[in-house]
Amino acid sequence: MARQDLMGKVAIVTGASSGVGWQSAVRLGEAGVKLCVTARRVEALEKLRLQLLERGIECIAVPGDVTIQGDVDQVVRECLAHYGRVDILVNDAGVQSYGLFDELPWEHITRIFDINCFGFMRFARAVLPHFRARGSGHILNIQSMLSKGSAPLLSAYSASKHATLGWAKSLELELMGTGIQVSNVLVPSVDSNMFAHAPTMFGLAPKPVPPTYDVDVVARAVVRCAMRPGRTIVPVFLQGKLMLWLNELFPWVGKAIMGQWGARMQMREEPVTRPEGNLFHAIPQGVGPHGPVPPTPLWKRISATAGLAALVGGLVLSVAGLARAAR
Ligand SMILES: NC(=O)c1ccc[n+]([C@@H]2O[C@H](COP(=O)([O-])OP(=O)(O)OC[C@H]3O[C@@H](n4cnc5c(N)ncnc54)[C@H](OP(=O)(O)O)[C@@H]3O)[C@@H](O)[C@H]2O)c1
Repeated sequence: MARQDLMGKVAIVTGASSGVGWQSAVRLGEAGVKLCVTARRVEALEKLRLQLLERGIECIAVPGDVTIQGDVDQVVRECLAHYGRVDILVNDAGVQSYGLFDELPWEHITRIFDINCFGFMRFARAVLPHFRARGSGHILNIQSMLSKGSAPLLSAYSASKHATLGWAKSLELELMGTGIQVSNVLVPSVDSNMFAHAPTMFGLAPKPVPPTYDVDVVARAVVRCAMRPGRTIVPVFLQGKLMLWLNELFPWVGKAIMGQWGARMQMREEPVTRPEGNLFHAIPQGVGPHGPVPPTPLWKRISATAGLAALVGGLVLSVAGLARAAR
């Protein structure tokens, strides 16, 4: 896991017209990476490209849909034609749809897999021949805390993210010794436009499970991962490492909380009619890194961490006490 200098490297970033993809392109560009950005919204990509160019960061924009093989091949072809190489693939494009599993339209379920899971695989297969020929390359996947965990109303999304992490872990093993690395960033709730883009079956605006982080937390993790590839990064503590430990040690705690309040936690008291969102066609709104729900203030995150730490500490002490009493 040697540290890699990013200066002059070339990255394809998918899902770059908003949110995590946009901000990751900005942060990678600041670290010296030359960019090829892609998504469906042409104007948004052009806006990003011009912003980067103004700052002296080289960038080409190639629009495309990750579910269309011809588009994926075209992005890789244009990147190679322009730069002569590609070193990093940031697989980011993703969608979600809010609804009870048995009430989600079947087309939503298959479309979510086509974008979140097969989209990652299509891009990986398009760059791998080039990576193999050069004996180097890096596939960096934007995953989710729901690649390991679960939430009500997001069953199809969570399933697609679990599948993508499983695929990435297997690919990593296949590529051992080839010089090609695979990394994953497990993203917590961030203040992107995903919630303004997602379809909902409830007539209420969706919101992230709190706490919500600044999208830049993920973009900076992407740069760290690009520098030290081959890792699976969990960039935050409260809705990251602590949740994973808690789920490992006391799975019933998360289950009780999310089962009881998980659905309510994900809806705002704001009526919306969005039966399809951005699943089948891009929607013009929501260009740029940030969305409508601001990040949770630091003091609230610290209080919640202290509360959860006390809960975990209390549980560990109770279990230890019970074990002693049983001896
Ligand atoms: N936001 C969160 O709280 C959160 C939490 C965990 C994980 N994540 C992950 O972070 C990644 C980015 O999400 P985000 O939060 O940045 O949401 P976002 O702002 O909605 O960005 C999603 C991006 O994917 C692109 N996209 C969607 N469908 C596409 C398609 N068929 N073909 C090509 N591009 C497509 C969108 O662009 P166009 O519409 O222009 O195509 C957009 O650029 C996703 O993989 C998501 O699963 C997000």
